[in-house]
Amino acid sequence: MELNLAGKTALVTGASKGIGLAITKELVAEGVQVVAGARTVGGELGSLGVETIAVDLSTPNGPADFVTEALERTQGFDILVNNVGAVHPRPGGFASVTDEDWLATWTLDFLSAVRTTRAALPMLLERTGAIVTVCSVNAILPDPLVIDYSAAKAASANFFKALSKEVGLSGVRVNTVSPGPVSTDLWLGKGGVAETVAGDGDPAAVAAKVAAGAVTGRFTTPEEVAALVVFLASDRAGNLTGADIVIDGGMTPTL
Ligand SMILES: NC(=O)c1ccc[n+]([C@@H]2O[C@H](COP(=O)([O-])OP(=O)(O)OC[C@H]3O[C@@H](n4cnc5c(N)ncnc54)[C@H](OP(=O)(O)O)[C@@H]3O)[C@@H](O)[C@H]2O)c1
Repeated sequence: MELNLAGKTALVTGASKGIGLAITKELVAEGVQVVAGARTVGGELGSLGVETIAVDLSTPNGPADFVTEALERTQGFDILVNNVGAVHPRPGGFASVTDEDWLATWTLDFLSAVRTTRAALPMLLERTGAIVTVCSVNAILPDPLVIDYSAAKAASANFFKALSKEVGLSGVRVNTVSPGPVSTDLWLGKGGVAETVAGDGDPAAVAAKVAAGAVTGRFTTPEEVAALVVFLASDRAGNLTGADIVIDGGMTPTL
């Protein structure tokens, strides 16, 4: 399918690895100029020939600074992909989650996307652009093991739905994608969910059990999430807005 994205410009947050890196690569393959933000911007991201900005998006000014710098380096942009996020499993249960934990999760998994969107919206309105935000299946499958993350992602899905209504007539489209477990460092890497949940046990066994919870029997790949995000960012999804698209290998048991 021709996505007609060549010549467009996109901002991608959390782009140095995992889903954000896969989205960046997919956009580049479609001929999109990408401005990519993360705290560390060397490695594979640095080899892609995209504009990279080292930024901590959990700080109050990080998101706006990222957008300002992106505007200085480009002629403007058409697409915003809010992908940055992190999860910290809470094996100690709800009582173990401190105010500091709640605030850190809220800031990175919700507020950073709000702040980035606020800074980027004037340009997206000018260009009749699109916003795609990587949410999580935990927005609709709340899980006490990631109780703060689930709440922040639910807030994110809610916020972007509301925003889609405010800007709908302007032509700016606003959608979220909600992946189930994806094969990235967040789940499978050092200090990732599998290792944390396993404790002294076997992370591979934890991952295998979770994979078995999908009707496809496996994790989603970052590339599969990227393909969906890039489609939603394209004009081929021209009347698709205010949607949350679940990509979880059928893990969600209901319609
Ligand atoms: N993997 C999953 O199973 C899964 C499932 C559902 C939803 N998601 C969501 O998908 C998104 C991406 O997850 P992922 O699995 O690709 O995670 P990941 O592999 O851990 O990558 C996270 C990315 O965010 C960047 N990042 C983290 N904190 C940052 C900060 N404070 N400022 C700027 N950049 C920061 C990281 O780069 P630096 O460390 O260099 O900053 C990295 O590029 C997140 O929103 C996550 O909640 C993931």
